[in-house]
Amino acid sequence: MRITSYGHACFLIETGNHRLLTDPFLTGSPMAPITKDEVRCSYIFCSHAHDDHLGDTVAISRRNQATVVASYELSEYLSSQGLDTIDLMTGGGIALPFGHVRLTPAVHSAALELGEGRNLPLGIASGFLFSIEGKQIYFAGDTALFSDMRLLARNGLDLAFLPIGDRYTMGVEDAAAALEYLCPLVTVPMHYGTTKKLTGDPKDFVRLAEVAGHHVKVLEPGQSFDL
Ligand code: NI
Ligand code: MN
Repeated sequence: MRITSYGHACFLIETGNHRLLTDPFLTGSPMAPITKDEVRCSYIFCSHAHDDHLGDTVAISRRNQATVVASYELSEYLSSQGLDTIDLMTGGGIALPFGHVRLTPAVHSAALELGEGRNLPLGIASGFLFSIEGKQIYFAGDTALFSDMRLLARNGLDLAFLPIGDRYTMGVEDAAAALEYLCPLVTVPMHYGTTKKLTGDPKDFVRLAEVAGHHVKVLEPGQSFDL
């Protein structure tokens, strides 16, 4: 399968027949190499309702008739916008035509920002654990380090997407510590450099990870690799 970065926490996972998109923040993202009107996908996985993750979910889902997979409350909200959705709750999963996906815990908040300081609580922040074509892929979402990550890796991990930007998620040190729990064959760092506040530097992450024997693939927006 092919993995492509669209910047921040947005990735396209292409299998033979399916195109899976994570956290499609494109409009307003200085990292986006593609617009919401160009993306093609059949499923969207939305980790939580913050702007930089919900992003263009509604527009992309409508144009592609893509199904959105999200936690229960976010799924209900998107369903009320007329989208085709699948709701999950932490620890639960579902078999879908591309494989299997499970909702994982994330230590983070999850409200929809309404402006003027108002927020609509929309359930929990989450990550996703995919099983696709025999490969196990963990997309952490926005999260702090937590030791139960080790439970997510008990069937082995071929790929992990981990935030490293600091301030709102793990920084490089905690993300490197997460690798000791997860031991993925390859790690793609995400959620850095999009704004000045996200100071985590992928070069520092690579250094810390490689000292401990872990393999990191830094993807520039628009870059792909085959898993
Ligand atoms: Ni967030
Ligand atoms: Mn975020």
